[in-house]
Order: sequence, then C-alpha cells, then structure tokens
Amino acid sequence: MPYGMPKSDAERKKTHKALFGTDKLPPRGTGRVRVKPYQRKQKVDPDSDALRKGIVAEYEAVNMYEELAENAKDPKVKEVFLDIAKEEKTHVGEFQEMLLQKDAEQVTELKEGKKEVEEME
Ligand SMILES: [Fe+2]
Repeated sequence: MPYGMPKSDAERKKTHKALFGTDKLPPRGTGRVRVKPYQRKQKVDPDSDALRKGIVAEYEAVNMYEELAENAKDPKVKEVFLDIAKEEKTHVGEFQEMLLQKDAEQVTELKEGKKEVEEME
C-alpha cells in the first residue's frame, strides 16, 4: 500500500491487535497524525546531498573496519582491516573536499566549530 493511503478497518484492526492486543479501534482521526511527505523548503544541491551521504557512509565504514580489526585474531587480517579503515578515511577527505568546494556555508561552519572547540581548551 502506498504511503499515506487510508487503511481499511480490517487492516487497522489487524495492526491495532498486533500492537495493543485488542481489536477495539480508536475513532478515526485520533491516532497518529498523518504527515505529508517530507519536503524541503530550500532547493538542495543533489551533489552536495550525495557527498554528505557519502561522508556518513565512509565514517561508518571506518568504524566497521576498525571494529573488525579489533576482533581479528590473525595479525595479517587485522592489518588488512586497519589498512582499509585508513583508505576509508581518505575517501572521507575526498568527499569533504568536494563538498567544501560546493558549500561555502559548510566552510564557514567548520571554522566556527573548530574555533568553539579551541575555546574549550
Ligand atoms: Fe570508501
């Protein structure tokens, strides 16, 4: 069923029973508020959006490979995982550099974040 389509009472009862253990439905309109599909007010640069998603994925990969390295018993396996984790950090740098070329606000905010941390020291 597509998102946002109203469910039949039979479907509502089935879902409600699974969640709350009873067939007795609350009146329509008293449940979860239906939200329109997410819409951004500002036009988003699709490349910047993709680069941010890429950065997140690369950081997750770093964490995963470092965890795999930590759990590896064979030193060679550990070394390979650590080497790949390092490569993922390079990928973060590639994506970040490209993002900074496209997003001037991000450049400013990175500097601002750095300044705030330095002021904590
Ligand atoms: Fe990567």
